[in-house]
Amino acid sequence: MIEMQDVWKTYPDGSHALQGISVKVDQSEFVYVVGPSGAGKSTFMKMIYREERPTKGTIFVNGFNLEKLKQRKIPYVRRNIGVIFQDFRLLPKLTVFENVAFAMEVIEAPKKVIKKRTLEVLELVRLKDKANSLPTQLSGGEQQRVTIARAIVNKPSVIIADEPTGNLDPDTSWEIMKLMEEINFRGTTIVMATHNREIVNTIRKRVLAIESGRIVRDQARGEYGYED
Ligand SMILES: Nc1ncnc2c1ncn2[C@@H]1O[C@H](COP(=O)(O)OP(=O)(O)O)[C@@H](O)[C@H]1O
Ligand SMILES: [Mg+2]
Repeated sequence: MIEMQDVWKTYPDGSHALQGISVKVDQSEFVYVVGPSGAGKSTFMKMIYREERPTKGTIFVNGFNLEKLKQRKIPYVRRNIGVIFQDFRLLPKLTVFENVAFAMEVIEAPKKVIKKRTLEVLELVRLKDKANSLPTQLSGGEQQRVTIARAIVNKPSVIIADEPTGNLDPDTSWEIMKLMEEINFRGTTIVMATHNREIVNTIRKRVLAIESGRIVRDQARGEYGYED
């Protein structure tokens, strides 16, 4: 479902962010991506949602070769991937409801469907009562729950989460992980970059360790393995 074959990425300034990544992730897997800062974790994730393009190599997502994708197929492939960031990236002038609904508006879902589905995912992340609040009126954990709702609203097959607990306190981080597990349990593939050792060592999943743009470890029910 996600497959990389010898993927290289050199940024225009000459940084060699990925140096020959080959990996396969099956549907419904939960994969942690760990490794030092600057190792290439974010670049690896950006390859999957096509935020950056590889310098060399092949990437398949849901059977589509991302490098051979017809322009008109791009929205379809994109909507099958939900993305969650460390810094939330909510639209500050839109309410919680509007932030989530917006993700469905861009794919031109019918109004009625948007309302029903948006309320459904807000319920799932337990934020229905904050539907009319603005992001600034929410705690960090609540904001991250909004981004989770936004990421799953179009029922993607894959969630890419780049250090989703990076700005959250430990209790809130565990809450977010409960949600991630629940989403994964329903069949969504999750690829999550993290520096959170406690989480990786407690909620045991496959671990990919990246160093200097290479996969140096690929471990089922793995451990964090770094001291930071
Ligand atoms: N847009 C960019 N332009 C140039 N270099 C970049 C860019 N993004 C990342 N890099 C470089 O690529 C390497 C990998 O970065 P990144 O994928 O962000 O690593 P990580 O997420 O593991 O910290 C680093 O050396 C970083 O400085
Ligand atoms: Mg990063």
